[in-house]
Amino acid sequence: MTPEQNQAGYDLVVSKSNIVAAVQVKWLKNNVAAPQILKFVDFLESPAACQFNYGIFITTKDYSGPARALIKSWGKDARIRCGIASEHKITWVNGDDGTPPPQPPKQDKIYFGIFTCKGGVGKTTVAAHLAGAFALQGFNVALVDLDPEQNLHKLVGDGVYVPNSKGTGTTIEVYDARAWDENAARDCKIVICDCSPALERNPRELIEKFDYCIIPTTLNPLGINKHGIVIQDTVQKIRSINQAAHLFVLVNNFRDPGIRRFKILKESFLSVYKHISQNDKKFHCIDPEQVCIRTSDQLYYWGIHILENPDNPSSELAFQLIGGKCYPRDDFISLVDYIEREAGIGILRE
Ligand SMILES: Nc1ncnc2c1ncn2[C@@H]1O[C@H](COP(=O)(O)OP(=O)(O)O)[C@@H](O)[C@H]1O
Ligand SMILES: [Mg+2]
Repeated sequence: MTPEQNQAGYDLVVSKSNIVAAVQVKWLKNNVAAPQILKFVDFLESPAACQFNYGIFITTKDYSGPARALIKSWGKDARIRCGIASEHKITWVNGDDGTPPPQPPKQDKIYFGIFTCKGGVGKTTVAAHLAGAFALQGFNVALVDLDPEQNLHKLVGDGVYVPNSKGTGTTIEVYDARAWDENAARDCKIVICDCSPALERNPRELIEKFDYCIIPTTLNPLGINKHGIVIQDTVQKIRSINQAAHLFVLVNNFRDPGIRRFKILKESFLSVYKHISQNDKKFHCIDPEQVCIRTSDQLYYWGIHILENPDNPSSELAFQLIGGKCYPRDDFISLVDYIEREAGIGILRE
C-alpha cells in the first residue's frame, strides 16, 4: 500500500549501524488504536518504504488494549517497536532489550522570522513556501503560527504537504504560539515563524532566537517611499530585541514592468535602503533582479481554500509544475540559495 496523498507515512528517519528506521510520532489526546499501527505496518511493507529495515512508532499518550495486544502478538523479533514518550524517556511496549533506542542527533535549530509591520504583503505565503523550499531539500521544518489571524493554521491544519517527484512528499509540522515547544519538534532543524504584524504580540523569546528575518514588501511605483518607512520601522523594532539576526528585505508579488521601467524602479527601491545597509552590516536588501517572489496564480489561489471550504480547508503548497515550470518553487529555492550565499552558516552544505 502506498501512503495516502497527504501523508508521508513517517515523520523522521533514524539510523544506527545497519538499521535504518522509519519513525512515526503521534501527539495525540487519545490512546493509539490498532488501525493506526496497522496503517504504519502497511506503510513499512509498501514499496515506498523499501529504504527502511525497521519501524518505530511513538506516541505521547498510550496504546489502547487491542493495540497493545496487537503489538505483543508480534513477538520479540518484530522489526517494529512501539513506545510511549514522556518528558525524559521512552517506555517501550515491545522489543525492549535494554539497548537504548536510536535517537536522532540533537542539533541546534535555525530560526527564521517572517515579519513586517504591514499586513497583506505576503508573510504567511512566504513563511509556508520558504518552509516548502527547505522541505524540498530534505530538511524537517516546523512552522510556528504567531499571527492571531491564524491563517497558516486555517489553511494547513497541523501540517503542510510538500509533494516531490517520487510521489511521497514531506509533511511540514505547524504549531501555534501556545503549543510551540522546541522539544516537540526535536527533529526539525529549521523553525519558521509567521509573525504577527504587531511586534509586541510575538513572544519575545522567539524573536530573540531569530537567526534570519525576512521582511516581505512589494515594488509599486507609488509605494516605494511609503514601504521604505514601514521597513525602517520594522528594522528598528526587530533590532530593539535582536541585534544578531540577518535581515532580508524581499520583494514579493513582483510583476515585470519591462526593462527600462524595472531599472528605474529598482534604483529607487535600493536607494531607499542604502543608509540602513550602511549602518547595519546584517541588513540586506535583496536585489529583485537576483531574487524576488513573482506574482503567480498558484500563490494567489493558494489561499482560496479558506473561502472554499472554511470548515476543513486543506492545502498543498503552490509547487506543482505547470507546463514543466513552477515560478513559486523556483523563486523560493532561489531565496534559500541567496540567504545561504549572503549570510549562510553552511546548513545547505551539511
Ligand atoms: N507572489 C504572490 N502572487 C500572487 N498572490 C500572492 C503572492 N503573495 C501573496 N499573495 C496573495 O496575497 C494575499 C496576502 O498574502 P498573505 O501571505 O496572507 O499576507 P500576510 O500574511 O502578510 O497578511 C493572499 O491572498 C495571497 O494569496
Ligand atoms: Mg498572514
